[in-house]
Amino acid sequence: MEVPLRPEMFDFHGVSMTNVITDNWDNVQDFKARPDDILISTYPKAGTDVGKTWQTSLIANDSFLSLPYSGTDLADKLPTTPRLIKTHLPVQFVPKSFWEQRCRVVYMARNAKDNVVSYFHFNRMNSALPEPGDWSTFLQDFMEGKRVYGSWYDHVNGWWEKKQTYSDFHYMFYEDLIEDYEKEIDRLCSFLGLSPSAEEKERIKASVTFDSMKQNKMTNYTTARKLNHEVSPFMRKGKVGDWKNHFTVAQNEQFDEDYKKKMKNPDLKFRCEI
Ligand code: A3P
Repeated sequence: MEVPLRPEMFDFHGVSMTNVITDNWDNVQDFKARPDDILISTYPKAGTDVGKTWQTSLIANDSFLSLPYSGTDLADKLPTTPRLIKTHLPVQFVPKSFWEQRCRVVYMARNAKDNVVSYFHFNRMNSALPEPGDWSTFLQDFMEGKRVYGSWYDHVNGWWEKKQTYSDFHYMFYEDLIEDYEKEIDRLCSFLGLSPSAEEKERIKASVTFDSMKQNKMTNYTTARKLNHEVSPFMRKGKVGDWKNHFTVAQNEQFDEDYKKKMKNPDLKFRCEI
């Protein structure tokens, strides 16, 4: 499908979306998940593409799909299993076959402030997304849930609530991964029922470092036409706390105030939180 440049956003069942996400909606909702599919979900710019590297190094196949972008026809044709399917859909929009088939689900969340900074730069460099406006406009939009895929707050909370009733679920945090990669990869492997050798773990570790992903054409997206890496590279900084270089003191205070109102769940603890 040809993606229009700088498309308009509109309200889709309460979530800001663009046509490229919703055009094929009935087909997406009819997606036929297979029991061994692994669904990895994130709000945009929470580190999703680390999943792609796990797929190739942990599971050793290339059945990587992006829902809804890859198209359901392609999904049906993929011969290898398990398929890794990444999505940014809020939990209420996930096709029901994933739950019916008891697919394993991995959700990765990233602290709101770094997430909005990363999303701002991604909107600047990606002409398949709506115009971002300047930083303060973008930040305000983000707080109001008015960027593509809707409210970050609803996203992380919605998926967290799902985890309470759906046991085949692994909820992880970007900051934990950055702090103790080995512990996190062990937890992920145990969830996926994998027991890689020490050698395999080393290989995986080498392939998911920020630097190696920045060099890797499969993960740095330097060949994607709609991405302008001169505006901002896709693999930008990969750091925790870069928000401090963007938020003014006043923006930070306003954000914290708003955050407290929206993030009431005491169990959902973000590292590097406010
Ligand atoms: P920054 O813009 O803060 O650098 P996604 O993969 O969901 O598109 O998210 C991209 C964000 O995750 C970017 O954040 C990117 O640098 C970061 N990221 C991706 N792979 C990473 C890795 N291997 N290590 C650290 N950060 C990574």
